Amino acid sequence: MNYHVKDIKLAKKGALRIEWARNNMPVLGLVGARFKKEQPLKGLKLAACLHVTTETAVLMEVLKAGGAQLSLCASNPLSTQDDVAASLAVNLKIPVFAIKGEDTKTYYSHIKSALSFQPDMTMDDGADLVSTIHQNFSVYGRKEIIGGTEETTTGVIRLRALAAQRKLRYPVIAVNDAMTKHMFDNRYGTGQSTLDGIIRATNKLIAGSNFVVCGYGWCGRGAAMRARGMGANVIVVEVDPLKGLEAVMDGLQVMPIRDAARIGDIFVTVTGDINVIRGEHFVLMKEGAIVCNSGHFNAELEIPALEKLKKSKRVIRDFVEEYTLKNGRRINLLGEGRLINLAAAEGHPASVMDMSFCNQALGAEYLRQHYKELQKTVYKVPDPIDHEIARLKLKSMGVRIDTLTEEQKRYLSSWEMGT
Ligand code: ADE
Repeated sequence: MNYHVKDIKLAKKGALRIEWARNNMPVLGLVGARFKKEQPLKGLKLAACLHVTTETAVLMEVLKAGGAQLSLCASNPLSTQDDVAASLAVNLKIPVFAIKGEDTKTYYSHIKSALSFQPDMTMDDGADLVSTIHQNFSVYGRKEIIGGTEETTTGVIRLRALAAQRKLRYPVIAVNDAMTKHMFDNRYGTGQSTLDGIIRATNKLIAGSNFVVCGYGWCGRGAAMRARGMGANVIVVEVDPLKGLEAVMDGLQVMPIRDAARIGDIFVTVTGDINVIRGEHFVLMKEGAIVCNSGHFNAELEIPALEKLKKSKRVIRDFVEEYTLKNGRRINLLGEGRLINLAAAEGHPASVMDMSFCNQALGAEYLRQHYKELQKTVYKVPDPIDHEIARLKLKSMGVRIDTLTEEQKRYLSSWEMGT
């Protein structure tokens, strides 16, 4: 079996950390037990491009238990946990192509290696598999690809653009759009792991800082909520009037980045767009400002402009590059502008990935069963699956919700029937 990982000797440590994650993913565990019995993915070749973390390893176990044959590469050059990659290669015998800190050339060669086994299905986080396949369909899509799943907001945006131009070559399930994904993973997962990444990288006190969050989508809401909970003065930068208004009514300051740039101590971008913080903003920043990104791509910060503005730079701590600008002020860039929550920390906690990855596993099963009826476009996870995941998650937490009385049901259905 072919694989490319940093150090195979890390497998033992990886296996223990994967066990820790598995213990915190009870709902995915239930899916895994059913998959083992029913074999819904038997014989399916599935290529996955995901952050190679302990939680992803548990998902790989479940897909394999369901009968799938797998290959795995990283969905970001800095997010791989090398011990996990080693464990997956050694203990689960999965061809893994992922090394933390790999350069761009290696990153894309790993994607190609994962695709070289001619998958029937793709599982993406950021749409790099779909995009590579679409650039060279005759090589990677030689036989029919029946469908794919997509984990993240940025990937779904890329796929919808392909579908709108009628260029998408197979159906894709937008896992991100499931309620049990974005309402929890994007908000509570990104919220906690972004703060975790910033704190691990800098050991800075959040309390009393001016903490600027660019973007008030689900991820931005989460980061703002957690920073506020730790005592920061949170400033939100938005372009959407509804989200800007929501941030105001959540009790936060809202202003353009040009104003926020002068007063912020810590800046985080979570917009999914490019060049949110640009050269014209870096020159306004205070001495010692900290700048990072928690969106999928490292294009939210205009790093080429920062490079042009610099007099010198040095790595002052792991994941912290200190830029001294020509104006004499120092700016600290975290994690090369890549997802700070996965570069300097471990990504979202297992108990939230439990739901996200249930959507992945059940999305793959749904595609296997229904691909013949599906068009070459982007689909939601079916509502019954989404609701079942929420029900099981509550059950695993020992939380019971209420039920309607017969009288209440009759009352509601009378309204639905217009009487
Ligand atoms: N994306 C964010 N956090 C993650 C994690 N822990 N594992 C895989 N993908 C992630």
